[in-house]
Formats: sequence, C-alpha cells, structure tokens
Amino acid sequence: MRRIAMAVAASTLTFPLAACGALGGSGSSSKASPTKGNDLTVGLLLPETANTRYDRFDAPALKNKVAELTRKQGKVEYANAGASASRQMSQMQKMIDDKVDVIVLDAVDAHGIAGQVKKAKGAGIPVIAYDRLAEGPIDAYISFDNDLVGEVQGRSLLEAMGSQASSSAKVVMMNGSPTDPNAKQFKAGAVAQLNGKVTIAKSYDVKDWKAEIAQADMAKAIESIGKSDVAGVYAANDGMAGGVIAALKDAGVTKLPPVTGQDAELAGVQRIVSGEQYMSVYKSYPTEAENAAEMAVAKVQGKDIQFDSLTRDRVDSPTTRNIPSQMVSVVALTRSNIKETVIADGIYKASDICTAKYSADCAAIGLK
Ligand code: GAL
Repeated sequence: MRRIAMAVAASTLTFPLAACGALGGSGSSSKASPTKGNDLTVGLLLPETANTRYDRFDAPALKNKVAELTRKQGKVEYANAGASASRQMSQMQKMIDDKVDVIVLDAVDAHGIAGQVKKAKGAGIPVIAYDRLAEGPIDAYISFDNDLVGEVQGRSLLEAMGSQASSSAKVVMMNGSPTDPNAKQFKAGAVAQLNGKVTIAKSYDVKDWKAEIAQADMAKAIESIGKSDVAGVYAANDGMAGGVIAALKDAGVTKLPPVTGQDAELAGVQRIVSGEQYMSVYKSYPTEAENAAEMAVAKVQGKDIQFDSLTRDRVDSPTTRNIPSQMVSVVALTRSNIKETVIADGIYKASDICTAKYSADCAAIGLK
C-alpha cells in the first residue's frame, strides 16, 4: 500500500477552507445528495466480538457521534459479523436492501467483500472502509497508521530484550489473520525492525486472530525451539498475547520472555501491570470512530469541504487508487504510561484495571 502523506490525528475541522478546494476528491467518489438532512441512516459493519474493542468502544462512539451530528435524528444500523466473512456479506446485503445512506465497513475479509462494495456503489450507497482497507470501489478509508503499529511493536520488543537481543536470539512471530490487510502491515513493520537484530525462528499467520490457535502454534514453537531458548515473542494483538503466555506457562517457562500485543484490551493492560506482557499498542478507538462518523455524515449531506478536510491522505488498495484517507496515530503502552493513555482518555478507570488480583502490582506503579 502506498501512502502519500503521513498523517495527523486530525479530528477537528481546523483546516483552512481556502486550501480545501485544492485537494479535490477522488475520481471514484460517489456523489451524495446534498439535500439529505439529518434523518439519515449509517450502516455499520464490524468484524468480530472476540476482540472487545468493537462492541465496547467503536460501535458506541460512532453511534453517539452520529446522534450528536444529526441532532439525534440520524440512525445507525449496526451488525457484527462474529469473524464470519459470509455472515458479513449477508449483513452488507441487508443494508443495501434497506437502502441505508452510507456504509461504514470493517471487513472480515478485505478481498472477499469487494463484490458487495461494488454492489453498494451500484446502488448509490457510498462505502467508507473502517480500520481495514476493504477492496473494491470504496469512497474513503480511515484507520490507524498500521505500519507504525508494527514498527512500534518491533522496536518495543527489541527494547525489552535489551542486551539479550543478538543475531542468535530466537524470536517467535504470531501474526494476525491472513484475510486482514492490517496484519500484513503490522508484520512488515515489525520485521523491518527485527531483521538483522534477532533470529525470527518461527512465524505464524493466525486465522481470524484466534487466541486459541495462537496458543497451539506457540506450543509447537516452544517444542521446536526449546522452552529456555525463546528470547521474545512478537504477538500482533493482546488476544493472541494471552494465548502465547498461556502456552509458555503450560510448557513450564517460569521466567517469561518479553511478549508484545496490541489493542490495550483490559486483560492485556492487566498483564502489563503484572509484568507478564511487555507492551500493547494503544489506539484511540473513540477518535477513529468519531472521525468515521463525521466522514459518513459529511458524505451523505454533501459537505465536500468537510469531507476533504477529514481525508487528507491518499492510499491505494489492490483495486483502487488514491483513496481519500485519514490515518490516526498510535502510542506504545507499557507499565510506565498507563495513566497518561487509557486512563486519561477514559477508556478504563484505575479501578477496572486494579482488581484484587492486581492491587499489589498496581500499587507498585502508583496506580489506584
Ligand atoms: C486489526 C485491528 C486491530 C485488532 C485486530 C484484531 O485489524 O486493527 O485493532 O482489532 O484487527 O485483534
């Protein structure tokens, strides 16, 4: 994927209006009716429930923002695919049949959904790819800077390994789902950091990001490498980090090697507090979801200047060039910045994290 402009987490419309005209739109953007008022319907398709972010943060933040932008007249029709690509196809079909005004799509299978994107386009419904770059004629894309996520994970792993990082140190990579284009970017970003500094002894692409598959793969890796020779594990998200850590413990590893993660899931943050997991990547889901809501409403209401100011980057997908995009920035989350990130942003309260089991560890890092 080619990224033309590196981006900022721009959520506000502070971009000078005079400059906006120069940006233009993408040649492929469908023209929404400028007469549509606040009584609009946004179709929201999210990929899974195993990862807590979608139901817990993305969906409610997007719904609230749509309500705020439309004086409570706009509706959100939400469907979660539960990691099933075929279910998502029918959910999208239903939204096309229901004639929603715009679809915000986080694809289970970014390639497989292209036909539905084309159908929506044919029916005059703009599609905004959310978080994962769906193929087909999408109108816009919003995501985090996924290359940066992988880089941050790779760099953090090396940092945690410290003087243990050497060309003979064996690292295991537990990458995300092969149908998720983000997973490829995370992996590439991490490999670029790790190459030449450690040996990537085993690498797995884990179907549907399933923690139990990651756990089974990790057990295989430990058997082949030897339980005392795993020097570090790149786990692409927190769910899989949980599986990896369980496999290490099952194998009788007492001093756990550093393990990475992503998503700042509550269980992940708790493992970071207790020292079982080294880091996660904190992505501000409310920022992504609220900006997607703004993009969707602006698109439907024909507010082109606002839409352009929200999508100042350009990316290419395998099928479509110059997609107007927004890339939101990310932060490495470790024991040292829990307060400044997930707590400051209201994602969790200290009391959510510091349950009885973690209270001593919380106290040690000044969290209460
Ligand atoms: C990715 C997404 C991550 C996470 C992952 C599944 O596409 O960017 O935030 O949700 O899927 O855990």
